[in-house]
Amino acid sequence: MPRIAYVNGRYVPHTEARVHIEDRGYQFADGVYEVCEVRHGLIVDLTRHLDRLDRSLSELRIAAPMSRKALTGVIREVVRRNHVRNGLFYLQVTRGVARRDHVFPSASVKPALVVTAKSTDPKGIAAKNEKGIKAITVPDNRWDRVDIKSVGLLPNALARQQAKEEGAQEAIFIDVDGMVTEGAATNVWIIDRDGFLVTRPADHGILKGITRTTLMDVAEKLGVEIRERRFSRAEMLAAREVFITAATSICFPVVEIDGQVIGNGHPGETAERIRGHFFEIAEKIAI
Ligand code: PDD
Repeated sequence: MPRIAYVNGRYVPHTEARVHIEDRGYQFADGVYEVCEVRHGLIVDLTRHLDRLDRSLSELRIAAPMSRKALTGVIREVVRRNHVRNGLFYLQVTRGVARRDHVFPSASVKPALVVTAKSTDPKGIAAKNEKGIKAITVPDNRWDRVDIKSVGLLPNALARQQAKEEGAQEAIFIDVDGMVTEGAATNVWIIDRDGFLVTRPADHGILKGITRTTLMDVAEKLGVEIRERRFSRAEMLAAREVFITAATSICFPVVEIDGQVIGNGHPGETAERIRGHFFEIAEKIAI
């Protein structure tokens, strides 16, 4: 079955989907994106993802490509046309196409919108949840506005590649003070020595993950106490549990970091309990 992409007003076969060579996303990483999960034929946490998209766009002063209602229609259509029941959609908005110049183009240049969708392998995800994953730590060498979900992901891509080359699945960034910021494409959580669920405050040092926000709702319902505070690499290595979250990786347990075993080396029970209740509590809308 051929994949279909939405590109600037048209639904086109994925293999023929093209953007212009002077798209500012291509030349300056001048754009933002969202990745949102589809599960059992339902779109998960769409409102929060679109709220964050609005915020990212406004922080960069890029106009919304269309109304929220129209955008939701496009997303649904792309998910439907690709027959995605379990997977994700990817949405990207750039400042548009203009002759290369660092300063913004005139207001008449329309933002460019691309939406794609793909199925993911539920078995691969289940295996990661069952066995846990390995991570490495790397210095956080990103700019100081990573709260904006910008397509400028080169440090993240390099960090993930390094993780892969070292036999791990995620790279966890450490700031200049030795404190954990977040993963290359995930937020990081620990269960500390006192049994609290700890994650870094969502300042400019991390992306405020949608999974992170919904997970806090879930933890509250389950009576798991949360502490939003910074924690060091050393505290993470000594934690009872470590797990990471993103839209398509809800509570992946981390059982080894930099070759050191975390907890008893097996996925922790808090991650499992939270994951077990996540989709009951998250917003779900039909395709
Ligand atoms: N990444 N931190 C970073 C740097 C991320 O790239 C992501 C998501 C997250 C988690 O955000 P959320 O819970 O809203 O997915 C945190 C997506 C999945 C990606 O780049 O593919």
